[in-house]
Amino acid sequence: MSDVKINPEGKVALVSGGNRGIGKAIVIELLERGASKVYAGARNPDTLSVLKDKYGDRLIPLKLDVTDSQSIAEVVKVAGDVEILINNAGVLKFDSLIAEDAAENFAYHLSVNVNGLIGLTNAFIAQLKAKPNTAIVNVSSLAGLANMPSIGTYSVTKAAVHSITQGYRAELVNDDVLVTGVYPGPIDTDMAKDLQMDKDSPENVAKAIVDGLESGSEDVFPDAMSSQVGVAYATNPKAIEKEFATYVG
Ligand SMILES: NC(=O)c1ccc[n+]([C@@H]2O[C@H](COP(=O)([O-])OP(=O)(O)OC[C@H]3O[C@@H](n4cnc5c(N)ncnc54)[C@H](OP(=O)(O)O)[C@@H]3O)[C@@H](O)[C@H]2O)c1
Repeated sequence: MSDVKINPEGKVALVSGGNRGIGKAIVIELLERGASKVYAGARNPDTLSVLKDKYGDRLIPLKLDVTDSQSIAEVVKVAGDVEILINNAGVLKFDSLIAEDAAENFAYHLSVNVNGLIGLTNAFIAQLKAKPNTAIVNVSSLAGLANMPSIGTYSVTKAAVHSITQGYRAELVNDDVLVTGVYPGPIDTDMAKDLQMDKDSPENVAKAIVDGLESGSEDVFPDAMSSQVGVAYATNPKAIEKEFATYVG
């Protein structure tokens, strides 16, 4: 738990990948809980038109590709009032670490899930440090706590997101910035459509994230599976590794 607790009411947030899946649910949750403005990043901002019609001036669609430094620079220029940065954008391709194309798949996941996250966060870090009560929320995955063989190179990048979250928290220890890692299990979005497992809803994940901001949580386990795995991870991480190793695709 952090001393920095963020009530979303009246706050300004930016959500990357805010047009669908978990990101869209976070945008809605923040607005429904009183955020004064949410910048929703999307590679194609037209995909935000329904949300824009519903929330009007409080929802600002922004063109944002986290792999494009020019796109990030344009976003920073117009979103100088951001207080809550939600790094949600991510990609997943099912693969194997021992397949021939592992290095190529790793580079693909790395570009969005890691380099994109660092690029966007570092572009906002000075302004987040300068304001009182701000937050950085990084969406990792349970696969970032132990490798899942059918999503091997993705898991590596989500482990990096876990480490990056710890690193930002250490860098910002003397600042008024809450740094939170989010560790979802399988969630019912496009990303997980081919996953044959019970899935929780993106709305439950979004609610847990905003609850986590309010309570100052540094680690959010937002769904049915992750709340169980989170407890086990704290007591017996080796058991989680062994369990996930059985999920070979
Ligand atoms: N679903 C799960 O089971 C699950 C579990 C654990 C963690 N997660 C994590 O949760 C986050 C959201 O996933 P999701 O399930 O909501 O996936 P999703 O439905 O596939 O949505 C992914 C989002 O990321 C955006 N995105 C992809 N590449 C981008 C880029 N280069 N620049 C900016 N935005 C980009 C997508 O935008 P476009 O519409 O333009 O493609 C989309 O908005 C990801 O970080 C994911 O790894 C998901």
